[in-house]
Formats: sequence, C-alpha cells, structure tokens
Amino acid sequence: MIGGSRDGVLVALEGIDGAGKSTQAALLKDWAHGLGWEVVLSKEPTDGPWGQRIRQSMFTTRLPAEEELQCFVNDRREHVERVLLPALKRGALVVVDRYYYSTVAYQGARGLDAQRVLAQNRAFAPTPDLVLLFDLEPATSLQRVGQRGATDTFESLEALTQVRARFLDMLKTERHIVLLDASEPPSRTHERIAAELVTAVLFPKLAAAHGRYVPPDEPRYALLNEASSLAADHLLPIQDRVRHLWVAKRAKLGASDRAFDQGAR
Ligand code: TYD
Repeated sequence: MIGGSRDGVLVALEGIDGAGKSTQAALLKDWAHGLGWEVVLSKEPTDGPWGQRIRQSMFTTRLPAEEELQCFVNDRREHVERVLLPALKRGALVVVDRYYYSTVAYQGARGLDAQRVLAQNRAFAPTPDLVLLFDLEPATSLQRVGQRGATDTFESLEALTQVRARFLDMLKTERHIVLLDASEPPSRTHERIAAELVTAVLFPKLAAAHGRYVPPDEPRYALLNEASSLAADHLLPIQDRVRHLWVAKRAKLGASDRAFDQGAR
C-alpha cells in the first residue's frame, strides 16, 4: 500500500461551486487507483446530522453566522474522526471536496475572523498535504451551477464575490495552497494536480522514508516513475514550491535530523 501502514496523504479541493472540483476528484481517484493506491473520496458538509442541518438551512433561511460556523465545525469533527483519520492511518489517498478553507472563506465572508476560524479547525483537523484552490469568476460559477439545477442561499453574485476574495486572500499567508485556473481544460488541470501530488508531496515523503532510494520492486516506485513522465512545464513552478517547503522544514529540524539529511544526500 502506498504511503505505508499509517502514512496516508490528504488532499483538499477548495473553491466556489461550479469550478470542477468533483470532476477533478474523480480523475484523481482513477489515476491513483491505476497506481495501486487505495483512494477515499469524501466531501463536506457530510450527510451526517450536522451536515443535514446545514443543507436544510441552505434551502430555507441561513443560520446566524456563529451558529453556522459551529455546525460546520461539528460536522468536520465527526468527519475527521470517522472517515479521514482511519483512512489516513491505512495509508490511503484521501481526497476531500471542501475542508476548513471553505469555512474561512464562506463564514469569513459573513464577517468571522479568518485567523480564529483557522486556529479553531487546526486544533482537531489534520493539515492537508496539498490544498488545491480552483479559482473561477463568480458569474461563471452561477452560470454553471444554474445549469445543474437549484441554487441556494449561499450562492448570490455578491456572496460568491466575497467568498472568492477570502479564498484568494489565504494564498498570501497559506503558502501550501496551489492556485488552479478553473477555466483550463480538465485534462490539463488533472495533469497539473498529479504532478503537484507526486513532486511536492510524495517525492519528499518517500525520499525522507527511504533515504532518497526506492527499490524498483516497491509499489511506490511506479509513482516516482510517473513523476518523470509528467509534462515538464508543470514541474518548474512545483520545484520552486518544493524548495520553499524544504527550506521551511529544514529551519524546524533539530541537529540529528539535519545530520540524517546530509548523510542521505
Ligand atoms: P457544496 O459543496 O455545494 O455541497 P452540495 O453540492 O452537496 O450542496 O457545499 C454546500 C455549501 O456549503 C457551499 O455553498 C459551501 C458551503 N460551505 C461553507 O459555507 N462552509 C464550510 O465549511 C463548508 C465545508 C462548506
């Protein structure tokens, strides 16, 4: 199993509705399955009691902002305990359609403080290895969602414009978020996502676990091979991000880890 017995990978898909998150989740699932990886697709709000309460309010009257925040947090707490953590322990690739960045953006757009919301969530929710932000014009979002059927009380042009601005604001402080242009063809976006996952997440994880050498009979070897077959124009910006992540990580490393790192080079 890729990722070992307790070392899965968590990917969060974020952005306003109609940006293609579920299409990309399905493409990612097929791709990772093809490499022999267990994949768990999940979404928030869930179908649990808190999620149902939220959905009901979406089609009737919106809850007061604090109460709405609390419902999303309670829903996520259950989701983390029942679905995300067990799957991550099994070593699965866990792809979640919306996570706590949505809370920062949507409930932030109602006036709640971004840093408070982030801290409240980070106290119990595992940090994703990769956050993909699908950016889209709110007018295009409404058009796409309208074609699918009902819109709800979360989706007006004004609200979505606020929400999008909150998502884009997070890019300034949350350096691990990857910005994707949702108007690109889905196949190209998928390639970019696969390249990000392999290069920015899996390669550093595997290199750390194996001293930069993965034997060819390891199932994970297929993933590293996959990295080299991905389009080169995806890799340059990713290398920049990886360098940034390593510099940040190294700054936190103690002397013994640093010695290991040098020995493994
Ligand atoms: P959505 O993904 O649209 O669910 P579905 O397609 O099944 O109805 O999510 C419902 C709405 O909830 C969406 O407008 C975004 C919003 N939302 C928040 O406001 N805060 C959150 O923390 C999350 C996860 C979602």
